[in-house]
Amino acid sequence: MSPHNSETQYTHGYTNPAFAGISSRTAASHAYFLLPHLKSGDTLLDIGCGPGTITLGLAEAVAPGRASGVDIGEEFIELARDGAESAGVQNVNFATGDALKLDFDDESFDAVFAFALLEHLPEPFDAMKEWKRVLKPGGVVAVGSGAVSRHAYAPDSPWGNVGFYLAVWEQNGGHPEIGLTQPKLLEDAGFSEIEVGGFITSLDALAQVAWAERMREPSFITQAVEGGFATEEEIEDLATEIEAWAKLENSWYLLPWFYGLGKKPAE
Ligand SMILES: C[S@@+](CC[C@H](N)C(=O)[O-])C[C@H]1O[C@@H](n2cnc3c(N)ncnc32)[C@H](O)[C@@H]1O
Repeated sequence: MSPHNSETQYTHGYTNPAFAGISSRTAASHAYFLLPHLKSGDTLLDIGCGPGTITLGLAEAVAPGRASGVDIGEEFIELARDGAESAGVQNVNFATGDALKLDFDDESFDAVFAFALLEHLPEPFDAMKEWKRVLKPGGVVAVGSGAVSRHAYAPDSPWGNVGFYLAVWEQNGGHPEIGLTQPKLLEDAGFSEIEVGGFITSLDALAQVAWAERMREPSFITQAVEGGFATEEEIEDLATEIEAWAKLENSWYLLPWFYGLGKKPAE
């Protein structure tokens, strides 16, 4: 587990399998709703940037303006820096940081982006206020999150039995349904001109197997067992069933994402 400087604990973990599903995300696939709001010369902050694959595309959109990515996981920041170097992207920097206590001055950015982060923060409203603080008046915030109850899969699937995973996530302060309440959060935090929308991605067999692997990690098992949410045997059985189901020829898993954009009112 990464050293943390906040009370948050990232349920999905930092090992290879856990991020296998996120390292293929791009700005075009997961931040397309923000791209029309960006222009050359803007400053942009990607909070909870993970391995930084989305950030690189956002950096391209604002060049020669600068993009910054922050994440509480040092492992991801190292990957993000390696990715930027391999891709030869010069106008981006990555640093460890906490979404709830950003190390940036007030009104530093034209745009703030956070994808699949709000669901991991114990205080999403406080986070929104913090993100508003670092935005310039008139600047844009764009967030995207899921809602596990809206996931769809067929045929009958062991994925319906992951209640213990969600219980651990909530115990860590997370909000697996937050995609549904993002617009209200934006409004309550004082953003205006709110836009909402969504899109669907597919969770392929490789990513599903990665989730099964995540469930088998000792740190996760300890949390689930100590929380009284599942026994080690139940976790192993479900992980095995998920692996088998993911490899069925006719199985599919669709993941809806909900996004929201808002502007910081110009003073
Ligand atoms: C599901 S990943 C999404 C990564 C990236 N935004 C993407 O979509 O590819 C969630 C990320 O949020 C980060 N995270 C969790 N809590 C955080 C916090 N308090 N401050 C900053 N990052 C945090 C995790 O380390 C992880 O990289």
